Amino acid sequence: MNRLTDLQQLIEDAVAGLEHPASPSELYEPITYILSVGGKRMRPALLLMACDLFGGDVQKAINPALAIEVFHNFTLVHDDIMDNAPLRRGKMTVHEKWDPNVAILSGDVMLVQAYQFIMQVDDAILRQVIDVFNKTAIGVCEGQQFDMNFERQDSVAVDTYLNMIRLKTAVLLGGALKIGALIGGASTTDADLLCTFGEQLGIAFQLQDDILDVYGDPDKFGKQVGGDIISNKKTFLLIRALELATGEDKDTLDRWLQTTDADPAEKVSAVTAIYDRLNIKQAAEQAMHEFAEKAFNALDKISLPIERKQYLRDFADGLMVREK
Ligand code: IPE
Ligand code: IPE
Ligand code: MG
Ligand code: MG
Ligand code: MG
Repeated sequence: MNRLTDLQQLIEDAVAGLEHPASPSELYEPITYILSVGGKRMRPALLLMACDLFGGDVQKAINPALAIEVFHNFTLVHDDIMDNAPLRRGKMTVHEKWDPNVAILSGDVMLVQAYQFIMQVDDAILRQVIDVFNKTAIGVCEGQQFDMNFERQDSVAVDTYLNMIRLKTAVLLGGALKIGALIGGASTTDADLLCTFGEQLGIAFQLQDDILDVYGDPDKFGKQVGGDIISNKKTFLLIRALELATGEDKDTLDRWLQTTDADPAEKVSAVTAIYDRLNIKQAAEQAMHEFAEKAFNALDKISLPIERKQYLRDFADGLMVREK
């Protein structure tokens, strides 16, 4: 077993050990349900790796890592309501299996539970950690609101989109790493560099998520393929397609974006065909690799021997070739 597998096992054990009251079952069962159906556990893994990187005691990082994973799952439960998503990790979403009110309230409890876990850090760094956590959480909400606003906008500039995904997705990776670094005793400079690594990696990660939403294998992806197209999400793919399309493709794309009663499958295949003609997948992959490169540049600047940082680099490389 290598170090990463060790850390991942710590997270799985901690998640499996989570207990909730039996009643009211509608409040607690969705929490067990969403947390038990897999997921890559990337954010808690990053938090533990960050702590480990600076020679910290990873046992002290387990509760904060759980905080980040529970928070992340809370955002997924609410995000699936906002995105009207039927599937998550290959299973029915909470609002479909129960109902939206249950999904809202269970999500709320998960947010509070996340705070209960984050509070378990040493008093000496508690304020600092809560501060990072709060800024991160507000950032995610801002990003989520921009994401929804953009569904109704005709066009969105690439930079505006990049800022939206930085907020909705990337700040949480950065925050998890920064908290791990603080627990591990890193200097402020190194903690901030690791945070930058996480943010740039998070942008690359969301670009990959946008790609998989169109090109993922439905049997492996675990989410509805084409969901972003159906809801007119201004993903990198759509933004680039709107910039590049001309003539008939442009008209067709505009028409699909205007329709409200479109057959979802038909819309997905028509829009995907336009993406294919314009080589949009390749453009998105290129952008993803550029952000991964920026992430690695920040990692390189951290004042530790290069070999110590290698497993973080390998982990990040693995994320760029994932299928779910
Ligand atoms: C899904 O995150 C939400 C995004 C930011 C794209 P993950 O892809 O990490 O989801 P799980 O936890 O592995 O299911
Ligand atoms: C993820 O955006 C952002 C958050 C969950 C905060 P998406 O809406 O693209 O995530 P998925 O694709 O549903 O996992
Ligand atoms: Mg969303
Ligand atoms: Mg979603
Ligand atoms: Mg997505």
